[in-house]
Amino acid sequence: MMRLKDRVAIVTGAGSGIGEATAVLFAEEGAKVVVADIDEAGGKNTVAMIEKNGGEALFVLADISKDADARRIADEAANTYGRVDVLVNNAAAFVLKGFSVTVEEFQHSLGVNVIGTTLVTRYATEYMKKTGGGAVVHMGSIASFIAQPDFFVYSATKAALVQMTRNMALDLAPFNIRVNCICPGTIITPSSLRHITKVGLTLEQFSKQEGAKCILNRVANPREVAYPILFLVTEESSYITGTYLMVDGGFTSM
Ligand SMILES: NC(=O)c1ccc[n+]([C@@H]2O[C@H](COP(=O)([O-])OP(=O)(O)OC[C@H]3O[C@@H](n4cnc5c(N)ncnc54)[C@H](O)[C@@H]3O)[C@@H](O)[C@H]2O)c1
Repeated sequence: MMRLKDRVAIVTGAGSGIGEATAVLFAEEGAKVVVADIDEAGGKNTVAMIEKNGGEALFVLADISKDADARRIADEAANTYGRVDVLVNNAAAFVLKGFSVTVEEFQHSLGVNVIGTTLVTRYATEYMKKTGGGAVVHMGSIASFIAQPDFFVYSATKAALVQMTRNMALDLAPFNIRVNCICPGTIITPSSLRHITKVGLTLEQFSKQEGAKCILNRVANPREVAYPILFLVTEESSYITGTYLMVDGGFTSM
């Protein structure tokens, strides 16, 4: 079954990791996918993967924290494919710091994760309103809820997204637009691989250590996050809005 046939979906940060897996899955389900990223090589690679599978995708080089870029993502989606039905706000800046953070780093983190998400949502939903509705998914994290050492900058932005999900769901409900949040646990992606290198662990050591914090006793791959995102943007979740879905192998339950 093609669950996103004739739908147009924007996925930010789709040049890597969870965003890439989501873009690829959406295309398999029949969506025309707009891959937005600041990384041109990564974004074009995702488009090439989708086209190789017989799908349709467009790359937009954009920094979501810039107003003009955020607007251009939505405009290019609508100009190319005629509409916008789905938005996945997956792109994020990883400022993994505590009190050692500089003002510039904190502003960068807020600028991408909180303000950038807001900008893309504003412009994309303007098009959704014109065609009768749509669905938005923000990317939270276990970090939205739990404390990790020297992590509060990233966590603050991810906690903000959970509350913004509630507010935006209320503001956009009159336009038949649902807004939800996905909160992954430890997923092996290029960003987590960079983190693993930084803390001096091997992938095997890190996977064992983080896996042990979950009921399922393992870490996950990006495709295991892409499927729950897919659920939240199809009619199968028509009565779900303003909430979050943990995809953490039971991390926050034990
Ligand atoms: N990997 C995990 O364990 C994990 C856990 C919880 C939540 N998340 C969240 O999932 C999302 C994806 O994470 P990932 O691990 O796949 O990361 P990733 O680094 O593999 O991919 C992120 C992509 O976002 C792009 N990006 C960054 N800043 C951008 C900007 N300003 N404008 C446009 N694109 C930008 C990057 O170029 C990159 O391609 C993030 O929101 C992250 O916070 C990840």
